[in-house]
Amino acid sequence: MTRDPADRWHALAAAGTVLLDGFHAVKHAVRFGAELPLAVTADKAATLALARDLAPDTVPALDTLLTPVAPATLAALVPRPHPTGVAALAVPAPRAPARTAPVVVLDNPRHLGNIGAVVRLAAGAGAGGVVTTGTTDPWHPAVLRAAAGLHWATAVERRAVDALPDGPLYALDPEGDDLRSVTVADGALLAFGSERAGLSPEMRARADGLLALPMRPRVSSYNLATSVAMTLYHWMAARRPA
Ligand SMILES: C[S@@+](CC[C@H](N)C(=O)[O-])C[C@H]1O[C@@H](n2cnc3c(N)ncnc32)[C@H](O)[C@@H]1O
Repeated sequence: MTRDPADRWHALAAAGTVLLDGFHAVKHAVRFGAELPLAVTADKAATLALARDLAPDTVPALDTLLTPVAPATLAALVPRPHPTGVAALAVPAPRAPARTAPVVVLDNPRHLGNIGAVVRLAAGAGAGGVVTTGTTDPWHPAVLRAAAGLHWATAVERRAVDALPDGPLYALDPEGDDLRSVTVADGALLAFGSERAGLSPEMRARADGLLALPMRPRVSSYNLATSVAMTLYHWMAARRPA
């Protein structure tokens, strides 16, 4: 492989790596063990100063990883360079969810920002992972951007409805039983419908029960990522702080 960073970038991008755009995404990817064959910065001293300030644990790895490039080169490599002037290419790492905590299932989600927000929620809450159904790629660069690079901090993969992990599946729907009346088991799958159409008939058929988030009358529904946040918080709130 050639040593020119721009040529290496194009070769890696063509080989199926995914773009991580901005300091926070790269920081999280480093922290959670992503394979980053190339990371670039338009100002290495400024990036390391930011890391010392915000994420000192990542300084040694970033110092080794970061290749300095001219600002014009970064602008040519990344469609909308992040204000922090850092970007990296990462090897996607889809994997099966862990079964020690509830797994979030997104049924044919359409909005890339929502999927990213849910990955970030799952990572922060310590969920078993995020499984999506349907055609949208949960490793799409816009999903990674919205997830702040936290795909490596949880499990993220796409499956068909008939290939979902085993375990009781509770589907969130405004017509279900009040979520507050149940304790969410660590082995549960928690399924959420798509932004426009809600739960698919296939997901409803797979569900062991429907659960509703409390909501005032005349409000139709919550946003998808917000619904996941409320549900995961309900699970977390029933656990003792470690
Ligand atoms: C934006 S909503 C979908 C709205 C859609 N028009 C429908 O008919 O269901 C996306 C998903 O969030 C979850 N959701 C939203 N509000 C909810 C509520 N009050 N109770 C349970 N789940 C809810 C459901 O899983 C829903 O399918």
